[in-house]
Amino acid sequence: MVRVSVTKGMVVAVLVLESFYLLASLKKLADLEEECEGKSQKAVADNRQVKEEAWPPIYIITPTYKRTTQIADMTRMSQTLMHVPNLHWIVVEDALKTSDVVRELLVRSGLPFTHLCATMPDEYKDKPMMGKGVFNRREGIRWLRENAREGVLYFADDDNSYDIRLFEQMRTTRKVSVFPVGMILSLGVSSPIIRDGKVVGFHDAFQAGRKFAVDMAGFAINLRVLHANPDATIPLRLSYLEDGFLRRLRIELEDLEPLAWGCTQVLVWHTKTHRPGTPKMEHIAHTDFDTNLVELYNNMLR
Ligand code: UGA
Ligand code: MN
Repeated sequence: MVRVSVTKGMVVAVLVLESFYLLASLKKLADLEEECEGKSQKAVADNRQVKEEAWPPIYIITPTYKRTTQIADMTRMSQTLMHVPNLHWIVVEDALKTSDVVRELLVRSGLPFTHLCATMPDEYKDKPMMGKGVFNRREGIRWLRENAREGVLYFADDDNSYDIRLFEQMRTTRKVSVFPVGMILSLGVSSPIIRDGKVVGFHDAFQAGRKFAVDMAGFAINLRVLHANPDATIPLRLSYLEDGFLRRLRIELEDLEPLAWGCTQVLVWHTKTHRPGTPKMEHIAHTDFDTNLVELYNNMLR
């Protein structure tokens, strides 16, 4: 009887010891696994950083002007661009001086940016058929010519909608890349026509003698092309801004590089923000002058 109970005690002791040993081993394994995972994650992150630093920068020129929908549009745009690495945002206000509201928005975004302004000189103001946002885009181009050597330029209007995959794709632009733009004119799309991998024309409701029937949002340019044509600029004539600029850059149809999977997908849309009524101080009832509404309107009307 005694012999049996001693053996049982020993077995229990061995079992307890073994359990401790097993637990310790398991813990060691878990630690090791964690360490390995951390290392491989770090390797992925390092690799991504190296890749991102090697990528050519994308310079986005955005013309913008004061209106009731401006901050909504610019907030959406800035928060889209915040997802794109190695990007420099050139925001050019259509104004005689830059505004605090736009500057504060740019600072909040944390993006590298350049904040400029330029507007249409008075002598052009009464002329018909003048394109929008030309002088401010030209100012952005001037800044680029003086400050950037390599990279890719894209004109991004403040009210369009962008799929961030477009920015990754345009980094490969060697001369000029082209891609479809959704929600344009009567066809609801403007796209290069691709046959056997080459651009052979444009599916766009507005042809009107344009060699390049593209929207401003439908192409990106390698800065080499800009530097090789130091006098090329955006023309003034409404509806001919894109065509005129590409012609002045001495681009030919065969130079165009189709993106967006051979122009089979839409990655940018020509959205237009609905214009609601304009907030005005006189909309506040006298009985509400001691409420938040005064400050709210003050903030909106800055
Ligand atoms: C269309 C094209 O998509 C634009 O690229 C082209 O510049 C414009 O037509 C044109 O007619 O020239 P659309 O949506 O009709 O665009 O024009 P907006 O979005 O009103 O303006 C295009 C860009 O220029 C915007 O970023 C806007 O903020 C800016 N803009 C507009 C100015 O800087 N100043 C203005 O007086 C008007
Ligand atoms: Mn627009």
